[in-house]
Amino acid sequence: MKGYFRGGLGLLLHLIFFMFAFSVEAQKLSFVINCGTNSSVNVDGRSWTGDAAAGNNVTLSSPAGIEASTSVFNGDRVYEPLYRTARIFSGSLNYTFQVPNENYFLRLHFYPLVVDGYNVNESFFSVEANGLRLVSEFNAPGEIADKNQNLPGSEAANSSYSYLLKEYFLSVESNVVVVSFVPSKGSFGFVSAIEVVEVGDRLFDDSVRRVGGNGGGGALDLGKRGMETMYRLNVGGPSIRPSHDSLLWRTWAMDSGYMINADAGTVPNTKANVTYANPNDTVVAPLAVYESVRVLTNAGVMEKRFNMSWKLEVHPGFEYMVRLHFCEVVFDNANQRVFRIFIDNKTAADNFDVYARAGGLNKPYHEDYLDSMSSSSNTLWIQLGPDPTTGSAGTDAILNGLEVFKLSRSGNLAYVETYTNVNGKKASKSLILWIGIGAGIASIAILAATWVLVFWFCKKKREENNAKKGPPGWRPLFLHGFSTANAKGSSTNYQNTNGQNGTIRTGRRFTLAEIRSATNNFDESLVIGVGGFGKVFKGEIGEGVLGAIKRANPQSQQGLKEFETEIEMLSKLRHRHLVSLIGFCDEQNEMILVYEYMANGTLRSHLFGSDLPPLSWRQRLEICIGAARGLHYLHTGSDRGIIHRDVKTTNILLDEDFVAKMADFGLSKTGPSLEHTHVSTAVKGSFGYLDPEYFRREQLTEKSDIYSFGVVLFETVCARAVINPTLPREQINLAEWAMRWQRESSLERILDPTLRGDYSPESLMKFGEIAEKCLAEEGKSRPTMGEVLWHLEYVLLLQDTWLRSNAGEEDTVASTTLDESMHTIDETGHEPVVESDDAESSSKTDESRDPLDPMVVGADEFSQMLKQQGR
Ligand SMILES: *[C@@H]1O[C@H](CO)[C@@H](O)[C@H](O)[C@H]1NC(C)=O
Ligand SMILES: *[C@@H]1O[C@H](CO)[C@@H](O)[C@H](O)[C@H]1NC(C)=O
Ligand SMILES: *[C@@H]1O[C@H](CO)[C@@H](O)[C@H](O)[C@H]1NC(C)=O
Ligand SMILES: *[C@@H]1O[C@H](CO)[C@@H](O)[C@H](O)[C@H]1NC(C)=O
Ligand SMILES: *[C@@H]1O[C@H](CO)[C@@H](O)[C@H](O)[C@H]1NC(C)=O
Ligand SMILES: *[C@@H]1O[C@H](CO)[C@@H](O)[C@H](O)[C@H]1NC(C)=O
Ligand SMILES: *[C@@H]1O[C@H](CO)[C@@H](O)[C@H](O)[C@H]1NC(C)=O
Ligand SMILES: *[C@@H]1O[C@H](CO)[C@@H](O)[C@H](O)[C@H]1NC(C)=O
Ligand SMILES: *[C@@H]1O[C@H](CO)[C@@H](O)[C@H](O)[C@H]1NC(C)=O
Repeated sequence: MKGYFRGGLGLLLHLIFFMFAFSVEAQKLSFVINCGTNSSVNVDGRSWTGDAAAGNNVTLSSPAGIEASTSVFNGDRVYEPLYRTARIFSGSLNYTFQVPNENYFLRLHFYPLVVDGYNVNESFFSVEANGLRLVSEFNAPGEIADKNQNLPGSEAANSSYSYLLKEYFLSVESNVVVVSFVPSKGSFGFVSAIEVVEVGDRLFDDSVRRVGGNGGGGALDLGKRGMETMYRLNVGGPSIRPSHDSLLWRTWAMDSGYMINADAGTVPNTKANVTYANPNDTVVAPLAVYESVRVLTNAGVMEKRFNMSWKLEVHPGFEYMVRLHFCEVVFDNANQRVFRIFIDNKTAADNFDVYARAGGLNKPYHEDYLDSMSSSSNTLWIQLGPDPTTGSAGTDAILNGLEVFKLSRSGNLAYVETYTNVNGKKASKSLILWIGIGAGIASIAILAATWVLVFWFCKKKREENNAKKGPPGWRPLFLHGFSTANAKGSSTNYQNTNGQNGTIRTGRRFTLAEIRSATNNFDESLVIGVGGFGKVFKGEIGEGVLGAIKRANPQSQQGLKEFETEIEMLSKLRHRHLVSLIGFCDEQNEMILVYEYMANGTLRSHLFGSDLPPLSWRQRLEICIGAARGLHYLHTGSDRGIIHRDVKTTNILLDEDFVAKMADFGLSKTGPSLEHTHVSTAVKGSFGYLDPEYFRREQLTEKSDIYSFGVVLFETVCARAVINPTLPREQINLAEWAMRWQRESSLERILDPTLRGDYSPESLMKFGEIAEKCLAEEGKSRPTMGEVLWHLEYVLLLQDTWLRSNAGEEDTVASTTLDESMHTIDETGHEPVVESDDAESSSKTDESRDPLDPMVVGADEFSQMLKQQGR
């Protein structure tokens, strides 16, 4: 009776505490903003006000970009109303929230929506909040792909992310939250929704224990630092939506996928009846987190010799706060369950007895640990296991919830990983990883070009320096970007590097007025493309003559030298299969290039992702041949050869007759400066268009273009993105996936279905073989562009023969003749097809050919290739 009474009083007190706490917490301030619209939507139990609506207590800086909405939605239906709209901006944009001085969660939602004129895959921007840098060179689709690739196997297929939610903890001291978005040079940014949710001062007011120290710890001065939520897991339970965590609207994910051996932990069948022991804990986590639990599996052995282990990808070099949530739900006594906690393989706690610490059964309890990740590790292990030193009855470990927060480093949360390459230079590692993941993303290639350029320049310069035995004074100059060099210096660099110094035809110089009138004063509705450099407008540049007008982002200071280089380079190149430069405009700090207009846009747009009618097999072959000719000319048309470095289907443009032309070539793509090439992502190993060898060997040759071209060939035949993170893991990377089928001679299994019945099986077989050769592991085993070209011509002949025979005219002679001519060409090292086009390219400045014609160099491999192809 007494016991009952005491219990009843306790409950009453709890209830009072709880209600008090709840009524206080329930009044928390929150701004939930639906971006890019003036209308409100109801999602997850909250009303999201449009950022363009009046009286929403949010101020947008001006210009405020554009309001975009999408009709295609592939994400989580719950969020559809919220994510259908977004704000897109190509200049910097601030959202300003007037708030009382307090702690807040700032949440940014990014759903990569499909909008005409803006490919969000190419959007890069940075975000700051009250001076705290949150992300740099941020690309939401890339990060989503990254997250999905990190999803542990079993989860990947079911629960891949379609959007990104980033959460930050901020302490406000200026009565305002200013979220500043700044697009990367020439790019643009977007945001789908923003939340500013008051947290109060009870979420992080505990002291933390430093892992691996001498038990040292103390209060974290979070107010000064700012944090990013990396993980929030409901251990042993289902995911919890914001609407079920209605104080702070957090999302709790399932933990099972992060366990390295899920069998090590068991979810017991008890329905815990949990109540908050401390009213302050109501904000720490919802009860649902404590009700579900995972305990160390009872393997039926006396001594348990394993841990429950969670493996979490994090950014190296930062400090992390790990918050563990516990609640004893089974044992009604202390000393029943005593265990050890390891964080980052270091002992964080031993003799850990949840019952004792929480002060009873069914009482929530949490503990915070601080760990510094070394700069070489990106895996944070959280492990709970037996404590052999205890004499307790049981050594089961238990865990209910797990949160990981990244702490800012001197006002910076953005992840910038660097590595030291063999030349002792710092470069962005994440850049390389990015190339792996997002090679389909245009801007990546621009970054890549910068990187390649570094090596190329450095190598050449080293050679020069070695020859001159001069001091290596060039390096700082280069590494600090062209901007430190004067125009003359830069152009000298360029000429030395290429050994070319012929006359430069710069085309027509347009006045800004002409450009303005052609583009209707840079009318957004005339934008036909957006890339890392800026926007491309369609405009009439003469009577009835259309041009593609590429305008570098006017804010860019560094772009001038690149612009000059681009003009220099482009004006030396003239070829039927290269998009030609018509002129430029450099008035009033503008950097504008005018190219011939390509009416049918990119090859990619005709392959997938649009409503355009599918191309026939023959058309595709002709386009590949055209592109191959353009590349062959680049590789061999000048004495040193030019490596394109960015071969992909969006750089193959089609004119009104579907004649393919390579675009965006040469040195033009110097992209952002080295300091600005950092892109945040974790380690990945998949490759899109980029030659894996040149990252390993740091040697760029034309063979890297060949590799990329091989990927283009597969893309052309499969009509899918080269990296598609939405597919099952083994299919994500087209190059790998297609090679797998190609090796089994079953490429038709993954063929673009619209080609069915339209192709000669033999031509497809040969085509696949060419693509396969292009993707050879080692550059030296890959064919030259001339060889590729020649083989593609052969494939086209096979197809034409087949078409004719299908039309009734059997023609067996053609293929025999062809086989013979193949050998003749092979042995002499000449190939006939390119010459005809070179007539048109007589305007090129340097006529002298490299005596080492690549056709000759490659002859041996070529004949081998022919043999392997067999008959
Ligand atoms: C919201 O925007 C739409 C389209 O821009 C406009 O037609 C409508 O009048 C606006 N509504 C309000 C309340 O401002
Ligand atoms: C804006 O702030 C005022 C005063 O704080 C408040 O009454 C109003 O509800 C707020 N509006 C919105 C949409 O949050
Ligand atoms: C945005 O806010 C930041 C910091 O308050 C300020 O420096 C910047 O000029 C603002 N940008 C715009 C476009 O208003
Ligand atoms: C994936 O979804 C299917 C069908 O809903 C389900 O049967 C399967 O268990 C799920 N797999 C995982 C790992 O959740
Ligand atoms: C939960 O525990 C409280 C006392 O702590 C008790 O009054 C209540 O009946 C329990 N509920 C269930 C479902 O066991
Ligand atoms: C709750 O938090 C407040 C403010 O941090 C603190 O003063 C108070 O002692 C806490 N209450 C309990 C029961 O821990
Ligand atoms: C548990 O993990 C820690 C840290 O990695 C390790 O030192 C320990 O040996 C593991 N315990 C068992 C029983 O495997
Ligand atoms: C940490 O523990 C995990 C799991 O036991 C192990 O795979 C990993 O190699 C360990 N790391 C270090 C640095 O010891
Ligand atoms: C963006 O990338 C994804 C994944 O590779 C792809 O599915 C999508 O089609 C791309 N979007 C555009 C507009 O290119």
